[in-house]
Amino acid sequence: MQLPAKAVCETGSSKRPKAARSQATRAFGSGEPSEVEEGRLSGAAQKTRHPAKRTVHPIYLDHHATTPLDPRVLEAMQPYLTEEFGNASSSTHAYGWAAEAAVEDARERIARAIGARDPSEIVFTSGTTESDNLAIQGVLRGARGGRDHVVTSAVEHPAVLDTCLAMEKQGASITRLPVDAEGRVDPDDVARAITSHTALVSVMTANSEIGTLQPVEAIGAICREREVPFHSDAAQAVGKLPVDVGRSGIDLLAFCAHKLYGPKGVGALFVGERRPRIRLTPLLYGGGHERGLRSGTLPVPLVVGFAKAVELCLEDLTPEAERLAALRDRLWERLQGELPDLRLNGPAPGGDRLAGNLNVCFLGIEADALLLRLRDVALSTGSACASSRGEPSHVLAAIGLSPQQARSAVRFGIGRGNRQEEIDRVALRLAEEVARARKARAGGALT
Ligand SMILES: Cc1ncc(COP(=O)(O)O)c(C=O)c1O
Repeated sequence: MQLPAKAVCETGSSKRPKAARSQATRAFGSGEPSEVEEGRLSGAAQKTRHPAKRTVHPIYLDHHATTPLDPRVLEAMQPYLTEEFGNASSSTHAYGWAAEAAVEDARERIARAIGARDPSEIVFTSGTTESDNLAIQGVLRGARGGRDHVVTSAVEHPAVLDTCLAMEKQGASITRLPVDAEGRVDPDDVARAITSHTALVSVMTANSEIGTLQPVEAIGAICREREVPFHSDAAQAVGKLPVDVGRSGIDLLAFCAHKLYGPKGVGALFVGERRPRIRLTPLLYGGGHERGLRSGTLPVPLVVGFAKAVELCLEDLTPEAERLAALRDRLWERLQGELPDLRLNGPAPGGDRLAGNLNVCFLGIEADALLLRLRDVALSTGSACASSRGEPSHVLAAIGLSPQQARSAVRFGIGRGNRQEEIDRVALRLAEEVARARKARAGGALT
């Protein structure tokens, strides 16, 4: 991973001073942190589950959780954090006009990037969670004629599933479609589930845990034919693969900046102009910003950074996807070469899968414990939200894994900064730690 000079990864360099090298060797040998940063977080932050102690700059392979801010994005944002600080709604002076112009420019660029027909179809929000909520709650609350039914899938992100659950408790009826062994929704199941009461179909574009790409075009065509609005959570898709709302028949698309090397705290909901019109009830009331759909002063620097980040991703979308897929395939091959008893979760590499995604069960291992020992690599066991709840993944359960198998799964999210040497290093480190844990387990020790 390319890091700023000060942050160069400690692992694998032969030119480091002897002391540092021996620390690192100790770290790789024992699973203990090589260098520890302490006290950087406040007292309150230190009371969280994971104290403010960490290996300095572990190799980052958790790009589904979030991505680092691209320095070019920060540069684009900078003027709007300082001299151009105006409120985009201030219509009586030049500060406001400059801010408004920047927002409208960003809106236009983001609209173009996802194939929207008009910039007015983009509503800025705080992130994908809010966009999903606005889509699902907004449609159900705005629906007429007894339409209170949502068709969704069992493998959606909690931002969708928990919103549906909350709506169900308030009287909506929810169909959660099963998926096949690779996590794919069958479009025929969608067609069969739609009734005269269906207000919305919500199926994600790409899965954040196992990388499955859903057949959104086929689902979109069905929704068009049945005149049911189609919502898709594309948090993991925009900036990673071509997304075209027109071609896919998507009426509501939720996405955000921090998954594509942009800032945290900003997202968007595409709301397509269509007949009949999608009636959305807002979640927030106030100044009537964003065509009344999302009141609240717009975070201009974040919006500007969002547009820049999307554009940078689109500049080399295909070569970067090919590069990530090659790294992902190499990682999988290396792991298989080093370790027995692995299980690949999600589509086979080369299939309909996110390029940077790999999800593997290290059978017989508790992945949470494994990752805590692996301090020099930043990985996760599933979506950040699900892993913070400590529950086995609902996605892995939906593709047929037992709770025990699901607890042995590690998710790899390879991203822009990762290089081949890191992939090889990670495969080696995992092989060491998994072998150690399996040996300890065979000997009766807890892993
Ligand atoms: C598919 C999907 N939807 C929604 C979210 C939530 O996104 P945000 O952090 O922008 O609220 C995530 C984040 O992991 C995600 O992967």
